Amino acid sequence: MNAKIWLSSPHMCGKEKEFVEDAFTTNWIAPLGPNVDGFENDLETYLGEGMHVAALSSGTAAIHLALILLGVQNGDEVICQSMTFSGSANPIVYQGATPVFVDSEKETWNMSPSFLEEAIKDRIKKGKKPKAIIPVHLYGMPCKMHEILSIANEYEIPVIEDAAEALGSMYFGKKTGTFGTISILSFNGNKIITTSGGGAIVSNNKTYIERAKFLSTQARDPAPHYEHSHIGYNYRMSNVCAGIGRGQMTVLEDRVKKKRAIFKNYQAALNNISGISFQNEPENFYSNRWLTTILIDSAKTPHTINNEHIRLVLEKSNIESRPLWKPMHLQPVFKDAAFYGDRTSDKLFEQGLCLPSGSNLTEEAIETVKSKISLAFTLESFSNL
Ligand SMILES: Cc1ncc(COP(=O)(O)O)c(C=O)c1O
Repeated sequence: MNAKIWLSSPHMCGKEKEFVEDAFTTNWIAPLGPNVDGFENDLETYLGEGMHVAALSSGTAAIHLALILLGVQNGDEVICQSMTFSGSANPIVYQGATPVFVDSEKETWNMSPSFLEEAIKDRIKKGKKPKAIIPVHLYGMPCKMHEILSIANEYEIPVIEDAAEALGSMYFGKKTGTFGTISILSFNGNKIITTSGGGAIVSNNKTYIERAKFLSTQARDPAPHYEHSHIGYNYRMSNVCAGIGRGQMTVLEDRVKKKRAIFKNYQAALNNISGISFQNEPENFYSNRWLTTILIDSAKTPHTINNEHIRLVLEKSNIESRPLWKPMHLQPVFKDAAFYGDRTSDKLFEQGLCLPSGSNLTEEAIETVKSKISLAFTLESFSNL
């Protein structure tokens, strides 16, 4: 059996060790220190646009703090893209607020601006104006931010831009992670760059970021003893993890190039198989192609092959693949939540598959994945399962 081929595994460059070593040498083994400051500086420089950054323990923590900073409270409603990972939506419930889910549009698979507007109008009609909007750049593909922001501005609702999967992507030449009233990033182990686990909150409003630093370190008032006039959180990034992040920042652009090359490689090899389609980049959209994703229209395939069949064939060869993220409005935990859409995301979930896309994949591994996918489209593949 070949070594496991993962969807997207951590890819170290070697420099990370130097920064981590430095944390040990200087004994900054704490959720503060030179690596935390350095990593925040690196992110601020990379994102530009006058952004301020606080490094946190996860992207989920970043969304939670963003909601708190925007004043989301018990009983409020927050609009969230339905097609996302649960980390985008769970913090809404941490705040005692209610998520309202909005479907995807077909081009980017992200929040549909027209259903967003429909949702806002209807929630206002029902008596509650949503407190925030959470669009998500899924798999690295930017959302239609101009349309989303113009609706958000019209109704004066702040935007929490979930760029957890999209560091390195751009929209009309501007980096994702710089569009929200507040934006968030994730450095979880599977992301384009990682700190093992971690996240960041980003804004051009310095007050928000200073407040995020205060809240993420248990909201300690200035005093020699521990004094608290607010509820705080233990959400700051460790100086050891931030060391990994500083090393990873030196290779971010390489990682984006590699991920985009992997996408092109799969596309060139598989695009002509009847029933498979790839997600195109609309003009002025630049995706980091964090994960290469395909749709399988089984009616168009030679032997009514579906995404699950391909997944099983790959699994048999020790290759990890995964259906597209199951939309939040289909999750048992959110079964009572309001949903606005035409079930585009249901169809994407039914047809989609994420392929191994790690920037550390060897040419040989990619060739293996491609040949196993081709094999999955043959009758022979059924008898081997
Ligand atoms: C779209 C999206 N939002 C939020 C998160 C949460 O980030 P974290 O795992 O760092 O908490 C993730 C991923 O993990 C994600 O993919």
